[in-house]
Amino acid sequence: MAELVVALDLPDKASALAMAARLAGTVTWVKVGLELYTAQGPDVVAALKGLGFKVFLDLKFLDIPNTVRGAVRSAVGAGADMLNVHASGGARMMHAARQGLDEASAPGAAPLLLAVTVLTSMDERDLPLGPGRTVADLVLDLARATREAGLHGVVCSGHEARAVKAACGPGFLCLTPGIRPAGADDDQRRVMTPAMAVAAGADFLVAGRPVTQAADPQAAALSFLEQMRQSGVR
Ligand code: C5P
Repeated sequence: MAELVVALDLPDKASALAMAARLAGTVTWVKVGLELYTAQGPDVVAALKGLGFKVFLDLKFLDIPNTVRGAVRSAVGAGADMLNVHASGGARMMHAARQGLDEASAPGAAPLLLAVTVLTSMDERDLPLGPGRTVADLVLDLARATREAGLHGVVCSGHEARAVKAACGPGFLCLTPGIRPAGADDDQRRVMTPAMAVAAGADFLVAGRPVTQAADPQAAALSFLEQMRQSGVR
């Protein structure tokens, strides 16, 4: 069964820990992204892990290979259970990221390392795709390059998950943000409902605002989990 990851896109450690406390026992994974990490650094990762959560450190590294290798080592040192880079950084950058992961991890205990293909907030209007090429084509090219570089999987939208699994194999992980209840409308463009994303083969579903801005975040998370179960996929 796919796992739900709740994005704690909040400004400080106190609000992140308060939100995490409301979700404890309901979700296993939380995501620390740019806003929270830039404000609080590794302390917030340690605090969330102290509460028993697994932490996806979503810093989307994109830089020259040597810099990304070092950044990945630091993210492992911060205690991340999952981390990511941008696939658009290219094969050499992703190889360097994998090297950094192996250097900093205990044998057999490396965190999951994913590559972002195309942000779920983007669609064909935002990308210089060239004639006849779709967002899905670009996502698939980046996913193949990610697999060849030895990473564990990709971040893509639910719309591409099925094709990524077909091209890269069932064990190649798909993490899908842009998860929305039917009818929602905001800055995300390539969105899917929880049941659709699970049915498409996603291994991890990321939801932020639909959970953290709900009047009752725990009830919203439970509703997502129930909708994921309704996909019929075990
Ligand atoms: O609030 P919302 O559900 O849109 O949050 C989605 C989260 O997933 C955000 O933290 C965003 O940074 C992240 N994300 C994304 N698209 C990607 C990779 C990460 O929306 N391709």
